[in-house]
Amino acid sequence: MDANDMGNALEKVLISEQEIKDKLAQMAKKIDEDYRGREILLVGVLKGATMVMADLARLIHTPAEIDWMAVSSYGAATKSSGVVKILKDLDSDLTGRDVLIVEDVIDSGLTLDWLTRNLSSRGAASVEIAALLRKPEAAKVEVEVKYIGFDIPDEFVIGYGLDYAEKYRNLPFVGTLAPQVYQ
Ligand code: HPA
Ligand code: MG
Repeated sequence: MDANDMGNALEKVLISEQEIKDKLAQMAKKIDEDYRGREILLVGVLKGATMVMADLARLIHTPAEIDWMAVSSYGAATKSSGVVKILKDLDSDLTGRDVLIVEDVIDSGLTLDWLTRNLSSRGAASVEIAALLRKPEAAKVEVEVKYIGFDIPDEFVIGYGLDYAEKYRNLPFVGTLAPQVYQ
């Protein structure tokens, strides 16, 4: 899927395919430097992180395994607490592992904060985060992100794994939707 397939549903391209590629290459280089001599367990958060995982994992030279989690927040009442329900847990034992969580976007930070503490409690040697996007204005809790792609405004974005009502994940860029799409 690309911009031509979207008609007037696309408002603007925020980050182009080439910009994403270049940034992921920089992030992979730093990851390789930091993890030299070690092995990484890449943990992707479904479904948004699929594209970042596929591209970032292929740019990393350090030996790496890939595993996935699916989580959902419990609902409005517990949203501010960041308590999440695990819909699909990891297949891997984390004992002694160097875990790198791979995310599409950091919004409030609540889910990632919970996830980081949850994975650390399973005996991982280290737990770090790599995220393509971050919305600093939306932060409700400070999460330490070791590898960040782009800081973006607090706007709803789609593409490159990010959806609106499950659509647009397969766009190669990150963009915003025209207002009429939400109506
Ligand atoms: N787009 C899609 N999904 C999201 C976003 C966004 O901007 N922020 C958090 N989840
Ligand atoms: Mg996500």
